[in-house]
Amino acid sequence: MPDEYQDKVVLVTGGAYGIGRAAAIGFSRRGAKVAIADIDVKRGEETLRRIKEVGGDAIFIKTDVSSEADVKALVEKIVQAYGRLDCAFNNAGIHKQFVSTIEFKAADWDEMINVNLKSVWLCMKYEIPQMLKQGKGAIVNTSSAAGLVGAPSNPAYPASKHGVVGMTKSTALEFARKGIRVNCVCPGPTRTGMNEELTATNPEMVKAMDQRVPMGRIGEPEEVAAAAIFLCSDEASYITGHALPVDGGIVAD
Ligand SMILES: NC(=O)c1ccc[n+]([C@@H]2O[C@H](COP(=O)([O-])OP(=O)(O)OC[C@H]3O[C@@H](n4cnc5c(N)ncnc54)[C@H](O)[C@@H]3O)[C@@H](O)[C@H]2O)c1
Repeated sequence: MPDEYQDKVVLVTGGAYGIGRAAAIGFSRRGAKVAIADIDVKRGEETLRRIKEVGGDAIFIKTDVSSEADVKALVEKIVQAYGRLDCAFNNAGIHKQFVSTIEFKAADWDEMINVNLKSVWLCMKYEIPQMLKQGKGAIVNTSSAAGLVGAPSNPAYPASKHGVVGMTKSTALEFARKGIRVNCVCPGPTRTGMNEELTATNPEMVKAMDQRVPMGRIGEPEEVAAAAIFLCSDEASYITGHALPVDGGIVAD
């Protein structure tokens, strides 16, 4: 369905790279006008260039999703540019290193909770009023397999991602009768910037990651993007409050 997003305006946070870039390009291919929000200007402009090169309509807005002022301005700029906001993929996030609960630093806790969890609330806080004005909207947040089950990580990452699942379900219930659907995707290990260094420098670690996944391989960013594109679309019109694993079977194990 190449035109399923014709006349729709879609925001993708973390759209400069990884899953967000794959989603921004995927939404655009299906006819959407795409607002790419990211803190990384260089990679954000590269995503924009790739979309425009094939005739897509997109804008890049430099945004720190953990800043309320930035997120408020982001939604205002999208409405100024395109007049509406139909769908949002609140996907930006950070992982950092694997650190024991005992050694993890309070400053790293604050940063991770702000970027991975507070940001998703801030995005919904400013996206939903615009969607209510339009009478309809669809939001997909990015959680993780580590938002559904425990995983070796650091204490803040699974805490932030479990938080995204809880907030997604609660917000979905709050707005279920007002035309707004809210879901989240829960990726397993995916080949993106988040684990690029690891996969480039540590083949043993890649092998271990592959072996942990029942399907025997890590995921590609386009595979996670496809789930977000489906959940935002009218094809998913009766789905809300759902946390969809896109993880090669990890949470089924
Ligand atoms: N890659 C994986 O294995 C994996 C697994 C589970 C969940 N996830 C989640 O997927 C989402 C996307 O990550 P990815 O894997 O594509 O990694 P990535 O590093 O390739 O992309 C993340 C993007 O978010 C942006 N970003 C980071 N902090 C930001 C901020 N404060 N404001 C705005 N943008 C910011 C980065 O610049 C980057 O473009 C994250 O929420 C991540 O937690 C990833």
